[in-house]
Amino acid sequence: MAEQISQEGMHNQSYQYIIETIIPPERRSQVYDFWRTDKVLKDRCQFIATLYQKYIDNATPENYFVALLADFLLEGLYFYNGFIYFYNLASRMLMPGSADIFKMINRDELSHVRLYQKLIPEARKVFPHSIEQIYSMFDMAVEHECRWTNHIVGNNILGITESSTEQYTKYLANIRLRSIGLDPLYPEPKYSKSPYTHLERFSDTKKEAHTKANFFEATVTSYVMSSGLSGWDEI
Ligand SMILES: [Fe+2]
Repeated sequence: MAEQISQEGMHNQSYQYIIETIIPPERRSQVYDFWRTDKVLKDRCQFIATLYQKYIDNATPENYFVALLADFLLEGLYFYNGFIYFYNLASRMLMPGSADIFKMINRDELSHVRLYQKLIPEARKVFPHSIEQIYSMFDMAVEHECRWTNHIVGNNILGITESSTEQYTKYLANIRLRSIGLDPLYPEPKYSKSPYTHLERFSDTKKEAHTKANFFEATVTSYVMSSGLSGWDEI
């Protein structure tokens, strides 16, 4: 969890770097304050924040489980449509540097997902909760994520449509549920596959799941931790 917190700190720095590189100073506060004026964004943030707040206000075992689940939703569902946006641009050679940053953030997020995939099944044995509640939280998170993505991206970017956003978000919800031992919430066959498999070579989160570059031909951008790394002495 300490590692997760430190990575989230780096992600904030990366987002800030992107914003400050591409947005002129007079428009930056508009970006940082967008949640104040945009109701869809505010609702989306508030949904997750309220779940945490419930535990802060009333620290019961039930509310602790809800807070854990909120984190799983945040790590496992939120953000991914945003990553897809940049992979789509990268597939047309647009903003490849930003896509590289997102590739690394994406990899970190998946390690946080894995942490919660271990935690939640254990927590289910200990903390009072109901399966209906888990499903309804997932359903609401999917709704917020689709509403926000349709609002901010919609059908305006080549490669993303309102329907691919819905398919992808429900697909993600299904695989996250399965990873904690529950049945998929959206059983229709189309929600069992991602509409964005053609972007996986840009995300580089499949296979070994670390961003790689040929050491001698590219700038090394990853900080892969490997157990079997040898050859350093020769270098
Ligand atoms: Fe995270």
